[in-house]
Amino acid sequence: MTTPPNLPALLAAERQRFLDQHPRSLALARAAQHHFLFGVPLHWMRDWPTPATLFVREARGVTLSCADDLNYADFCLGDTGAMFGHSPAPLAQALAEQAARGLTCMLPAEHTPEVGTLLAETFGLPMWQMALTASDANRFVLRWARAITQRPQLLVFDGCYHGAVDDTLVDRDPSSGATLRRPSVLGQVHNHHAFTRVVPFNDLAALEAALSDGQVACLLAEPALTNCGLVPPAPGFWEAAQALCQRFGTLLVMDETHTLSTARGGYAKAHGLAPDFFVAGKAVAGGLPCALYGFTAEVAERMRAAKNAAPEGHSGIGTTLAGNALTLAALRAALTHLHTEASYGHMLDLAGRLEQGLSHHIATHGLPWTVTRLGARMELQFMPHTPRDAQDVVDHAQPELESFTHLFMLNRGVLLTPFHSMMLLSPSTQVADVDRLLAAFDALCVTLSPGQ
Ligand SMILES: Cc1ncc(COP(=O)(O)O)c(C=O)c1O
Repeated sequence: MTTPPNLPALLAAERQRFLDQHPRSLALARAAQHHFLFGVPLHWMRDWPTPATLFVREARGVTLSCADDLNYADFCLGDTGAMFGHSPAPLAQALAEQAARGLTCMLPAEHTPEVGTLLAETFGLPMWQMALTASDANRFVLRWARAITQRPQLLVFDGCYHGAVDDTLVDRDPSSGATLRRPSVLGQVHNHHAFTRVVPFNDLAALEAALSDGQVACLLAEPALTNCGLVPPAPGFWEAAQALCQRFGTLLVMDETHTLSTARGGYAKAHGLAPDFFVAGKAVAGGLPCALYGFTAEVAERMRAAKNAAPEGHSGIGTTLAGNALTLAALRAALTHLHTEASYGHMLDLAGRLEQGLSHHIATHGLPWTVTRLGARMELQFMPHTPRDAQDVVDHAQPELESFTHLFMLNRGVLLTPFHSMMLLSPSTQVADVDRLLAAFDALCVTLSPGQ
């Protein structure tokens, strides 16, 4: 489907509707401009397709209320940070208890061994280290991988996002296959493309070619691409890709920051894969800043040897607040009360209901769109098939339609993730929330159906 010819007029109407309904957010947006760049604490908070920033008063469970006292059913969930719902009660309680008992000491809190046991049981790897963000965790794993393999190269998939990690902020030239500097990245002076290789997702021949000279320290990958639309792995892809990594002595790093939504313990565990490293952040401690990376006993042995062989001094790994007592308390509560089979059972059931409802409306209205689902996460894609790789997503991109969809849904009380229409279900999501989304989506389909 080409973009509907009346889309600019429809978008203008939705923008006006937002402005009319949000006078208080508008006033706050103006006030925040005085001391915050772009009027927000972090510049990409302005990248939502709303004509002004939406300011949050409170978020509990999956209900977010804005400064104008409007309520939203939240399917964005902080782009996965709040995947277990906003401020789950056991987490809030653990934070309140720890808050009065010391926040950070540069020493491990006494429940550290218990947290280690919970991590090993939940994610299936025996050894762990902590960071504060998934970006940091990836950065540190990359250092370890290069240190222990003594190889310089990193391999990533085209369309990847692993956080603010310079080495991974590269693109693939579609004609030559060469690694390119990602043009949007600010202040990039280092020639990272000399040490990062990029291959298309789901392309085993390209993967083998990139690994075959034995120079690649690690393949850093999401099990499914989730940051350029949702691109699932083809059947058998990961089994074969893992075998290739093993054959060429390349470490496999699974960044499960988003794919934790697949099942308890993440995608790799659910599919019987055996990565050398596992990375998670965002929701892992219920949304409190926390990230971690796990690794096998064999990798741990190699890490010990590399550290012991290095001279005294900075390792380039670690930040002062990583592993602090507050984070550890949150992680303990999250592993005990949130990463449960009951949580995932609820999320997956509701995800099935949502997927079915979306597909039904798409079919009823004869729209050439697709819903792609991975566990409790799904995406509405404005293309007639599930994408195979990042280039497929780029070839079918309809940014105006995405912005319109996002704003249309928001104006009807439903928050989707901006940039791509991602919807995430949490243990707090109720059938009524799903039905609210589906009713708004039906109205969207009516508005955009051919012949309207
Ligand atoms: C797969 C993946 N890894 C890492 C990150 C970085 O997370 P953070 O921004 O919390 O450092 C993201 C962020 O979206 C992500 O999607």
